[in-house]
Order: sequence, then C-alpha cells, then structure tokens
Amino acid sequence: MVISAAQWLQAGAITLAYLLLCGLCLRRPRAAADTAANTTDRATEARATLIAYASQGGSARALAQRHAATLGERGPVTLLALNQVKPRDLEQAHLALFIASTYGEGEPPDNALRFARQWMRDSGQGRGRLAHLHFGVLALGDSDYRHFCGFGLALNRALQGLGARPLFDAITVDRLAEASLGAWQERLLECAVLEPGDAVINSAAQADSLPAILTARECLNAGSPGSGAYHLRLAVPAHCRWQAGDIAVLDVPASGSVVQREYSIASLPEHGALELLVRQVCKDDGSYGLGSGWLTRSLAIGGDVCLRIRDNPAFHPPPAARPLILVGNGTGIAGLRAHLRARERSGASANWLVFGERTRAHDSLFDDELRQWQASGHLQRLDRVFSRDNGPQRYVQDVLAAEVAELKAWLDRDAAIYLCGSLQGMAPAVHRLLLEVLGEQGLEALTLEGRYRRDVY
Ligand SMILES: Cc1cc2nc3c(=O)[nH]c(=O)nc-3n(C[C@H](O)[C@H](O)[C@H](O)COP(=O)(O)OP(=O)(O)OC[C@H]3O[C@@H](n4cnc5c(N)ncnc54)[C@H](O)[C@@H]3O)c2cc1C
Ligand SMILES: Cc1cc2nc3c(=O)[nH]c(=O)nc-3n(C[C@H](O)[C@H](O)[C@H](O)COP(=O)(O)O)c2cc1C
Repeated sequence: MVISAAQWLQAGAITLAYLLLCGLCLRRPRAAADTAANTTDRATEARATLIAYASQGGSARALAQRHAATLGERGPVTLLALNQVKPRDLEQAHLALFIASTYGEGEPPDNALRFARQWMRDSGQGRGRLAHLHFGVLALGDSDYRHFCGFGLALNRALQGLGARPLFDAITVDRLAEASLGAWQERLLECAVLEPGDAVINSAAQADSLPAILTARECLNAGSPGSGAYHLRLAVPAHCRWQAGDIAVLDVPASGSVVQREYSIASLPEHGALELLVRQVCKDDGSYGLGSGWLTRSLAIGGDVCLRIRDNPAFHPPPAARPLILVGNGTGIAGLRAHLRARERSGASANWLVFGERTRAHDSLFDDELRQWQASGHLQRLDRVFSRDNGPQRYVQDVLAAEVAELKAWLDRDAAIYLCGSLQGMAPAVHRLLLEVLGEQGLEALTLEGRYRRDVY
C-alpha cells in the first residue's frame, strides 16, 4: 500500500495532538502545585483540596504553602487566606485543611476577619450546608495567652455547626511545638490525606539562623520611672536582608537549653546594623526576664547572638504615596522607626507619629532623630504624650480622640494606620477608639484594604 503525503500529514497531526494531550494531562498536578504556590490564584477545578490559612506573622501561611506544594504534586489544590475563601470554594471541596493562628483575646488574624464574620458568627443558621465536607484544623497558638488557640478551636466548632465532618479532633500547637506538628502529620497519614514519605511540617516557618555580634548597647531612658529601654546594635552578615516591619527572632540561652524571643527591628539593612530596642523585664522577685535580662545585662559587647529574621508581611510598608499615621508606645517606637527610616529613603513625607511614654525628661526615645525629622518635614505631625508628667494622665488614644477631625482628614486622603507596641492597654484602647470613630464595618474595611496594621505584643 502506498501512503500519500496527505495521509502522512494527517497521521502526523493526530500523533501531535495525542502527544499534546498527554503533555497537558501530565502537567496537571504540576500546574496545581504552581497555582498553590501563588496565594492569589484560585484553582478552578471542582473537588480540589482546599487549604486555607489564617495568619498574621506568616507561620500558618508558610505551613499552608508547604501542604499545598506537597498535596499539589498529586492533585488539584486551592490555597487561600481564609478571607479569600468564597462559598463555592467550601461547597465544591470535599476535603479542606485549615491552619489557623490566634491573636488578641482569642481573635482571628486580620486575614480571617471577614471569614469569621460571614461564616462563624452564627454557623448554626447554615446547619448542614457543608455536610459534604471533610476537614482538619491545625490551630497555632501560644499557651501563655489566656485564649490558647481560641480562634482555631472556634473555627473547628463553627465548621461542625455548618455540618462539616472533622477527620479528627483539632490539633493545637503551642509555639510551633514539633511534637504537635508531628501529631498533625500522623493524623493526615492515618486519614490517607498524606502518603508515607510526605513531609509537610519540617521547619516550614523558619528562616535560616544567622550569626550576629552585639556591637553596642545604650540605655535610652536613664532616670525613667519605667524599666530600662536599651538600644542594641548587632552586626549581621552582609547578605542578611529584611524590610521595615520584620521581626528578629533571637536564641536566648536558658539553663542548658535555648528559648526564642521576638523583637521588632528598628533599622534597615542599609544602616549597616540590625538595631533593636529592648525593654528590661523586671519581675516581682527581683529577677529579670530571660531574653531581656540576657540582652540588656548578661550579653557582653562583642558577644555572639544567633538570630533569624521573621518575614512579617502583615506589617510591611504601605506604598510610598500613601500617607501614614504611626501610633505606638514604649518599645513600639522600634518598629515605627524602621518604617520612618524606610519612608525617608523613598521620599514619603506624609507621616504623622503619635507616640506615648512616661516622662518627657527621661523617656523621649530617639528624641534627636524625631526632632530632625520634624524639622526636615519628614514628620508632618509629631504628637508625643507623656502619661507621668504633670497635668492629666494622657495616652496616645487620648491624642487621637482629641484629633478625630484630623484623623478623618488623613484617612480621607487614603492614609494607613500602623500600630506598634503594648498589647495591654495601648493597642486595645486605640482599637476601641477607631471602632468608635469608624464603626465596625469601617474599621473592617480599613483592615481588609491593608490600611490598619498592627505589630503589638
Ligand atoms: C512580634 C513581637 C515583637 C516584639 N518586639 C519587642 C520589642 O521591640 N522590644 C521589646 O522589649 N520586646 C518586644 N517583644 C516582647 C519580647 O519578645 C519578650 O516577650 C520580652 O522581652 C520579655 O521576654 P523575657 O524573656 O525578657 O521575659 P520572660 O522570661 O519570658 O518573662 C516574661 C514574664 O514576665 C512577665 N512580664 C512580661 N512583660 C512584663 C512587664 N513589662 N512587666 C512585668 N512583667 C512582665 C510575663 O507575665 C512573663 O511571665 C516583642 C514580642 C513580639 C511577639
Ligand atoms: C500579639 C499576639 C497575640 C497573640 N494572641 C494569642 C492568643 O490569644 N492565643 C493564642 O493561643 N496565641 C496567641 N498568639 C500566638 C500566635 O497565635 C502564635 O505565635 C502563632 O504561631 C502565630 O502564627 P502566625 O505567624 O501564622 O500568625 C499571639 C501572638 C501575638 C504576637
């Protein structure tokens, strides 16, 4: 039989089409993994495994990304921050893994606020709506807080209220304890969500540790009625990078072992040193806090420090064109100072700092720098308020309350509010004031737009 040129062409085209189809099929899991790696993308396929995270500091997000990468090798995966989860994501998925941290008084991180309002306030009303869904909850938290893993556990209850079926009891994790993360991985293996050899937890949230050296330490508030606030300079390797808003996690020696303590970084890499502002914690029995005592007293100049940089996207700089209201107290000035320095570099001078401390005479932290920024116009407004000076006790929330018209005018110009400092007292009081001024919906909208950000501790 003689095969014509046309027949050869036809056979070639069919073979090519077949090969293309095979290629597409083989690429599918990889495409899903790629989608999973991008938190904004959304897999469109039905029956994708949903991996949703609620994360402020990035640990839950990093863990979720790791899960998505592993599961995405095998099938379609949708990776989303909880706020991005749409009803159809829950209605189409048969399996969902939730990795959720807790903030405040057992509250959701900012990127889960909307989900909490829409799905969790009265989950009983949607009873049975998610009866098709199997799920697991990994709740991250810290048992030093009163509402340990409060949000993850509330999420677990709400999902059950909606009829979803738990694969196992929610797993709570205290300060990223490896044993609990291991237990979660075991449960996923038992339920055949993972396969033997899969690893979804190994140091998912930890950056490389870096050697640093303490090169200078200065007490900035000698004579203060409060305890010492020490400005530390650490020499770090030249390749060490971070942004304003990032956190230094330091290894602190503790009777034969090591504990970790977090500190807001007060400088930028361009300044040639990693700077911190550490408050000495003095306990009732006269002893010092482990980390703050070591950093402000025991560690000698020239001494070695092992640290990691924790990427903290929830407190990264706003666009340079956006005006910025920086609010904080005490060592909160550390994180705000890094932002002011970053904005100085990008020529963003629409800045208003509202800062609270105890006495003007002794607690005017970084006074020279703030005055220079005020004189140069880099700080368009500087309001410092000292609670222990003569006259009525005033705090940052009182300044904002007295300046509501100005606050609204800045917000009308698209300003963001960055809050840094005490979780006790200052941050909840400012939050209440903003709720009064903007209403619950207004403040939620500001948060969702990334215009209300907090680094409070
Ligand atoms: C994201 C983040 C950023 C942070 N940034 C900074 C920063 O920039 N500067 C800074 O100084 N700290 C910062 N901290 C706090 C810091 O991580 C430590 O918690 C702090 O230094 C105390 O640790 P410690 O080891 O000295 O005390 P620990 O040995 O852990 O002792 C703390 C104990 O003392 C009690 N305690 C804590 N604070 C006080 C206090 N003020 N007065 C009395 N008792 C107290 C607690 O109840 C606890 O029992 C930050 C924390 C977080 C989570
Ligand atoms: C300001 C602040 C408030 C916190 N509040 C709580 C809390 O109320 N309950 C809790 O269990 N953990 C609390 N934590 C601990 C975090 O949930 C825990 O560190 C978690 O691993 C953070 O995960 P993320 O990095 O994904 O946000 C808090 C941590 C911070 C910094």
